[in-house]
Amino acid sequence: MFGLLRHLFKLQFLFVVAAVLAGVYRTEIKQFLRRHTDDYLDTADRDAGVPVAFQTGDEVGTLFTPAELAHFNGEDGRPLYLALLGSVFDVSRGIKHYGSGCSYNFFVGRDASVSFISGDFESYDPETSDDVLTLKPDDLIGLAGWRDFYQKDYVYKGRMVGRFYDATGAPTTYHHKFLELLQQARDAKRQVEELRARYPGCNIEWSEERGTRVWCTTTSGDGKERSWIGYPRKLYSRGNKSFQCACVPDSELDEIDAAGRTVHGDAMLKPYDNCEPRAQECFYRV
Ligand code: HEM
Repeated sequence: MFGLLRHLFKLQFLFVVAAVLAGVYRTEIKQFLRRHTDDYLDTADRDAGVPVAFQTGDEVGTLFTPAELAHFNGEDGRPLYLALLGSVFDVSRGIKHYGSGCSYNFFVGRDASVSFISGDFESYDPETSDDVLTLKPDDLIGLAGWRDFYQKDYVYKGRMVGRFYDATGAPTTYHHKFLELLQQARDAKRQVEELRARYPGCNIEWSEERGTRVWCTTTSGDGKERSWIGYPRKLYSRGNKSFQCACVPDSELDEIDAAGRTVHGDAMLKPYDNCEPRAQECFYRV
């Protein structure tokens, strides 16, 4: 009898130790289970004759042809996959968004990257749905943001063979071009942000009789109080034909050359027509 009790007591003690260890190593256990569940699912996929696992490391994952990807549409208990910029994610966890009849079911089983920007969830043309190179620079940044979102919130599965990855899973020339344009877009955006920090925006108002009036105050632009007011100038950032009104501090006015170039980057600061160099306000009509 006492022997049995001692035995039970020992078992209870072992359970307590196991529970404490499980708490301490929670993250490692989760990672272990996740890795092994994924291995199991990849094998199951292979057995089902769907995509073949690509063996060169986690980042490549499984290679999907468009037809194979279309198969993962949530029907008959299959998971929900979508592709963005050629990367495939399992979005089954977001069934309330992606399930049949839900708002974003359109994205399932395909790469419809362009629709993430256009918001067109009706017409799908596989020839153009992931052709993103003609999008605007800010849209390319937006798409990269969506990709980061899926990477963070969902399970990365692999790559879709097509525009972004070739049949061996290697990035295509198109993919490299996308990355190049994305980098340019990010550089240009950073430059604009730096310029905006250096030369805050002006106040602006319009009236029928006077046209557009621009002027600077110590809080114009970002609304934050600064020690100087500045003078209105037309700010053209790199590669931009349109301008924005910027307040330039007195100390920097003399650094602008005749062509409007500043010592900072390749932006141009030009005076408004018919406005004195140190006028507090300028008027113009478009
Ligand atoms: C270009 C247009 C749009 C795209 C590409 C888009 C895409 C998406 C996607 C993919 C999700 C699911 C995110 C996830 O997996 O958690 C989502 C969620 C959501 N979207 Fe949109 N959406 C667009 C426009 C809109 C608009 C105009 C509204 C509002 C009128 C809206 C409201 C929502 C809401 C409320 C959620 C759910 C948020 C949550 O429950 O966590 N979306 N959107």
